Amino acid sequence: MINIPKGTKDVLPQDSYKWQYVEGMAREVAKLFSLKEIRTPVFEYTELFQRGVGDTTDVVTKEMYTFKDKGDRSMTLKPEGTAGVARSFIENGMSSGVLPAKMYYIIPAFRYERPQAGRLREFHQFGVEIYGAASAQTDAETILIAETLLKKLGLQVKLCINSIGCPTCRANYNKALKDFFAPHLEGLCNDCKTRYEKNPLRLLDCKEENCKKVNANAPTILEYLCEDCKAHFDEVRACLDLAGVEYEVDPRIVRGLDYYTRTVFEFISTSIGAQGTVCGGGRYDVLIEQLGGKPTPAVGFAAGLERLLMVMEQSGVQIPEPEKPTVYLAGMDGACRKKAFELATVLRNHGIIAEIDHMERSVKAQFKYADKLGAKFVAVIGGNELEQGIVMLKNMATGESESVAFGDLVNYLEGK
Ligand code: HAM
Repeated sequence: MINIPKGTKDVLPQDSYKWQYVEGMAREVAKLFSLKEIRTPVFEYTELFQRGVGDTTDVVTKEMYTFKDKGDRSMTLKPEGTAGVARSFIENGMSSGVLPAKMYYIIPAFRYERPQAGRLREFHQFGVEIYGAASAQTDAETILIAETLLKKLGLQVKLCINSIGCPTCRANYNKALKDFFAPHLEGLCNDCKTRYEKNPLRLLDCKEENCKKVNANAPTILEYLCEDCKAHFDEVRACLDLAGVEYEVDPRIVRGLDYYTRTVFEFISTSIGAQGTVCGGGRYDVLIEQLGGKPTPAVGFAAGLERLLMVMEQSGVQIPEPEKPTVYLAGMDGACRKKAFELATVLRNHGIIAEIDHMERSVKAQFKYADKLGAKFVAVIGGNELEQGIVMLKNMATGESESVAFGDLVNYLEGK
């Protein structure tokens, strides 16, 4: 037997309604905020992620599913959604269209990580990207989109926000970080030694215990924000206050991807510990230009669907079960079974959920099966019924039966 690859999961038929529920909510929230869906390929040229996500991030250096295609081109399964959307925005000339471009997506994403609860190698994201608007209000609206979804899903979460400034304040902060880390360099992991040289901000994102201890005392970016970035961050907070959104400023949030500027945020579940970050995002005003487009401000986030579902389950959120068949048509023998098949077709054509037997079961066994399916009614068709053009319709909740003419079935069952 061949098993499922490590870090991936099947969504089985009995569970898929939960996914549909969360995805349906996400689409509903997208509609509320006038976001339109964008679909981009599952794989892109590797260079897109190296340049977009950043070649000193863990995602790019350690976690990408990269392969050569038969034309010897280096391809990568997308580890996140933003880079592909940015590529598409540029390639399709969206900057000359209506701005802001407000988009969302529901995608699989791939990262070669050590699997554990809530951390997979193939996972799924609901993501939002808004292009063309630089105002703090847009950051706040982006956060509100995520918050609206989390609220609709019944989740208890904490919103943490930070600003990591623009390239100007970052340069000063990087210098401060280097000064701080210099005396500790020997004790840091090898990755951090490279980070120190190439991208000091990434030092704050290290998962190694030793490095984390040193990081705890590092200067925070908030002390190094330029006037404009400070004013922008104040305005984001003012907008969140206006919208009645509670948040905590956490100067330690730097995010694991390189493209962020100014506002960054994460929603963290308060009901579970490990992998509690259900959603993360922020502003990324230089990415489009970096990838060859016209300078375009941008802001977005992504929520992990597996994590949302995990937190919902752990906090006891009830997801409505899918609708059960309205009627099960049980035919006794050959001609009656044919009639059941024919009537089921008529009922379905009228939008009524009808089910029949496909396993040559006896009527008794069909009743059992109908019960398992949760059918509201069972319509029995025996020889007599067939002759008279009726079914014996049993209401499974009350146990009462009555005869209904074939021609009246649709009317009788509609709306039941
Ligand atoms: P991210 O923080 O890397 O951001 O991922 C967003 C969310 O995806 C996480 O908060 C988590 O819920 C989920 N996630 C990430 N990795 C895994 C994994 N291995 N297994 C399960 N769930 C996972 C981004 O991806 C950015 N593209 C978000 C963004 C959009 N920023 C701006 N626009």
